[in-house]
Amino acid sequence: MNNLQDKIAVVTGAGDGLGKQISLDLAKNGAKVILVSKIEEEIIKGKEEIENMGEEADYYMCDVSKVEEVNEVAKKILDKYQKIDILVNNAGVYFAGSFFEVNNDQAKKMIEVNTLGTIYCTKAFLPSMKERNEGQVLNVVSVAGIEANGEYTLYTTSKFAVTGFTEALRQELINTKIKVSAIYPEGIRTNIFANSGGRDYTKEEPNTLMDPKDVSEVAMLILKQPADINLSRIDIRKKIF
Ligand SMILES: NC(=O)c1ccc[n+]([C@@H]2O[C@H](COP(=O)([O-])OP(=O)(O)OC[C@H]3O[C@@H](n4cnc5c(N)ncnc54)[C@H](OP(=O)(O)O)[C@@H]3O)[C@@H](O)[C@H]2O)c1
Repeated sequence: MNNLQDKIAVVTGAGDGLGKQISLDLAKNGAKVILVSKIEEEIIKGKEEIENMGEEADYYMCDVSKVEEVNEVAKKILDKYQKIDILVNNAGVYFAGSFFEVNNDQAKKMIEVNTLGTIYCTKAFLPSMKERNEGQVLNVVSVAGIEANGEYTLYTTSKFAVTGFTEALRQELINTKIKVSAIYPEGIRTNIFANSGGRDYTKEEPNTLMDPKDVSEVAMLILKQPADINLSRIDIRKKIF
């Protein structure tokens, strides 16, 4: 049985990297995917790739750190589709460096996108899930959300907050049919490092990074579970040998 067939899934940060891969894989599994991100050309491309696979997709431009934009886009999506079944909070930014190296603007941006973006999107879509007592929220966190790392103190801070949010929200919804879960991957081969101000591991040490496909497969495993099973948290690590 494929639990994703005809499910309506919203993926944030769907234009590139892991979010794009998750969008493609959801579509391969028969879900209708709504790609949400900042750059229109990227999400149009994703939508076209999905349509070329013979599946349905839609897209909305939205900066998840801007609460008005999030609420407006969520309203448009809910007006059009009446419901969503799956929300993947994937949009994220990373500025490399210790506490002393990352400036306040960069710190603010990471909290606004990684932490508040996740909260804003969940706040915008969760009430409709609650009305139906059905739905899944999957937060893309990072090992940086469960293990402190002084090489990126403020990214760690923004992600630990998402872990706390995920865990507490799961408890809050424990007696409902709504599932809340998270994945905690180590490094993934994406463009997130290119604008991080730090080392670009995709060029320097690509073998230490995971393929987005491998991480997305774990996301699919979580999202495909039967209604009464929640794979609530999985960390995903690269073996280097
Ligand atoms: N790559 C890793 O090593 C790694 C490891 C663990 C966890 N993660 C997490 O995985 C998630 C995806 O990261 P990735 O590696 O796939 O990065 P990526 O390739 O840079 O993709 C991130 C996507 O998020 C979008 N985005 C950024 N800020 C946004 C905003 N304010 N509103 C809407 N969309 C926004 C980006 O759009 P633009 O192109 O417009 O900026 C991009 O499409 C992030 O939450 C990240 O923290 C990554």
